[in-house]
Parts: sequence; C-alpha cells; structure tokens
Amino acid sequence: MFKKVSGTKDILPEEAIIWQRLEEISRNTFALYNFREIRPPLIEEAALFNRSLGESTEIVQKQMFLIHNKDEAYALRPEGTAPIVRAYIENNLNKTNGFVKLYYIGPMFRLERPQKGRLRQFHHIGCEAIGSPDPALDVEIIALADNLLRNFSIAGYTIKINSLGCSPDKKKLVDSLRKGLKAKLEKLCPECVNRLENNPLRILDCKNDACQEVALGLSISESYLCPGCQEHFNKVRAGLDFLKINYTVNPQLVRGLDYYTGTVFEIAQKDLGSQDAIGAGGRYNNLVQELGGEEAGAIGFAFGVERLLLAQNKNINIQGKNLVYLITLGEPAKLEGLKVLDELRKNGVPCDTNYEDKSLKGALRKANNLNSRLVLIIGDNEIEKGMVTLKDMRSGEQKEIRLKDIIKEIK
Ligand code: HAM
Repeated sequence: MFKKVSGTKDILPEEAIIWQRLEEISRNTFALYNFREIRPPLIEEAALFNRSLGESTEIVQKQMFLIHNKDEAYALRPEGTAPIVRAYIENNLNKTNGFVKLYYIGPMFRLERPQKGRLRQFHHIGCEAIGSPDPALDVEIIALADNLLRNFSIAGYTIKINSLGCSPDKKKLVDSLRKGLKAKLEKLCPECVNRLENNPLRILDCKNDACQEVALGLSISESYLCPGCQEHFNKVRAGLDFLKINYTVNPQLVRGLDYYTGTVFEIAQKDLGSQDAIGAGGRYNNLVQELGGEEAGAIGFAFGVERLLLAQNKNINIQGKNLVYLITLGEPAKLEGLKVLDELRKNGVPCDTNYEDKSLKGALRKANNLNSRLVLIIGDNEIEKGMVTLKDMRSGEQKEIRLKDIIKEIK
C-alpha cells in the first residue's frame, strides 16, 4: 500500500471545511486593506532563492526540493516573497500599477526533518506590499497580521519586532555579533561555529540550549542603527502604540533570510511548543533592486496555515451548509427525485440523496450524519398525489407539501 510522503498531509473533507473558512476570512480581510491576489507558479529557477534568501541560509543549504533538468535547476518554492518580487519585476507591475499590495495562499516546500508543526509541504497565507519605504506601511502590515489573527479567533500570541537597519547597519550588527560570539566560541554547537563566519545572525535563533544561552547573554543595543533607520523604527513603534497593538521589542530577533532590512517581526503562540512561530515577516528594501528591478521599499509577512490551525484549536465558526437530503423510496420516486435535485440545485439549494440503497431508517441516519436540517421523502404514494414529505430534523416535525412548492417551502 502506498503511503503519503513523510512531512506531507492529506487534508480530508472535515478539515478542508476549516481551511476554506480560514481562506475566506483571509480574502475578506486582505480586501479590507486593498490587497489583491497573486498566484505565482510553484516552481522557480533555484538560483532565484540562492540569490534572494542567501547562499548560507538553512533553506538554501539544506532544504530546497531541487529538480535538475539538463543544465537547469528548478526548485519547488520554499517561500513566496522571492517569487512575488520576481513576478513584480518580470510583469512590470511597478510601471502599470505603481505601489502594489499582493496576497497569496498556497503550498510551500522545505526538506526539513518533519515534526509537529514542521512539514515538508506546508501552506502560507501571506502578503507583500511593494513600492514604498513609508514606516506607516510597516504599521499597517503589522496591524493587518494582528487583525487576521483576531478574525481567525486565535488568542495567546505575541508580536515581537526589531529593526535590522539598512545594509550598512546590518553589517555593523553582524560584525559586532561576530566579535561578541567569538569570545564564546567553545560554548556554541558545531553548526553555530560554522555560522560564525557565514551567517552569525542565524546563531541568535539556533534551537540548541547552550547557543540560546550565549545569544541571550549578548547585549545588543540599537546603536548599530543609523539616524534614518532609528527614526523609521521609532515611527513604527509610535504607530503601533497609537493603534494599541500589543508588541514587544526583541533585539535578538534577526530572521534567518538575507533579504531582510529594517523592520522585522515574528508572531509566536504560547501553546505550540518548540515550533511556536505562527507567522513572520519584515522589510526587504533591497530585494527588488537585487533581482534586477528599480529601487522599491517593500514589506510583507506569511502565516503558516498548519500552525494557525494548531493554535486555533477549532475555535473557528463554521456555518453548516444547510444541506437538504432527499430520500427516495422505489424506482418511480428515484426518477422524480432526479428532477427535484436538479431544480433545487438550479435554485442554489445544496442537496444530496442516498445512492447506497439504504432503508428509510438508514437514509435518515445518513441525513443526520451529514448535519442536514431538512429531509425530503418521496415514495410512490407521494408521487401519485403530487406531494412530498418535508421533515425538519431539528424539531422532528414533518408535513406534506406539494411537489411544485418545494423551492418556496425550503427557501
Ligand atoms: P518564514 O519565517 O520562513 O518566512 O515562514 C513563515 C511562517 O511559515 C513561519 O512563521 C511558520 O509559521 C511557517 N513555516 C515555515 N516553515 C514551516 C514548515 N516547515 N512547516 C510548517 N510551517 C512552516 C517566510 O517564508 C517569509 N517569506 C515571510 C515574509 C513574507 N517575509 C516578508 N514577506
């Protein structure tokens, strides 16, 4: 028997309803902020990710699903920001639309060691606003993330923010980290010893206890920020305060991907254990230019849908579809039933019938399992009279109605 690939999931119908609701809430909320949907491909040139996420990042080093074809290397997208910036440049969205606000919902792929909340195929609900360096946009984006979580009925989360500053600031931060960490080299895990040269920022979010202790012991001040970046960060904080959004400033928060500059943020939820980041994002003001476009300030974030669902704990309000269930007894009734179902559907009423040749009792049980509020029963006698029985499954009441009045009665 075949089994699903490790780190992937079948989203079965009962769960798919919750996914649909989450997606619907997302679309409605994004629309309130004037974001429009973009659907880039699932595969890209691998070099796009090497270039934008950075050669030394965990994703590029170890986690890309690569497909080699002759001289070309493709990757299943591990994240959405780089493909969207690629699409923005390639489709000249800067020329046609100026400042753009884009959202996306879909699968991402990372070759990770699977565990709870960490999959090889997982899903992002994310957005990218490209074309403005305005700190008010950072505030709007963080407020949008906060509102989405509220609308998803998720509680117990904290928003951590920090600023990495512009490229020269970031370099200053990296240099000072390298200096501070070199003195504690013997305490770091072997991987972090390697990271010290290539990507010391990654050491700050290493999961190893000893490395975390070292990271927490570092005194990182905002002194690496230039006056412009400090002012930007002050404005972001003032805006969040003004909107009464709860957040904490966390100087240890650096994010693992090379493209980030300026404001970065991460949202953690208290019940999720070691994989507690339900979403993250930040500014990437240099990426458009680095990938061949014009200079364009940009910021975005992505939520991990599987982690949202773990945090959401079935709080989401799923409205039943009010399925009408038709039970036919005998061959002539079955034929008449086809017409009834067709008419109901043409009038926008969701309905189904018993294709499994069940007894009346069995069919009623099926209707109950499907959560149907209304059941229609047609037997040969009813057809002769031009009548049908309508049963309310909640109250148990039933009455005979005329076949031609079904739509009116049900609506
Ligand atoms: P990221 O932090 O790599 O950021 O991923 C965002 C979220 O995706 C994480 O906070 C987590 O909830 C979820 N996630 C990541 N990896 C996995 C996994 N293996 N299994 C389950 N969930 C996972 C980005 O990808 C950036 N592109 C976000 C962004 C958008 N920054 C700016 N714009």
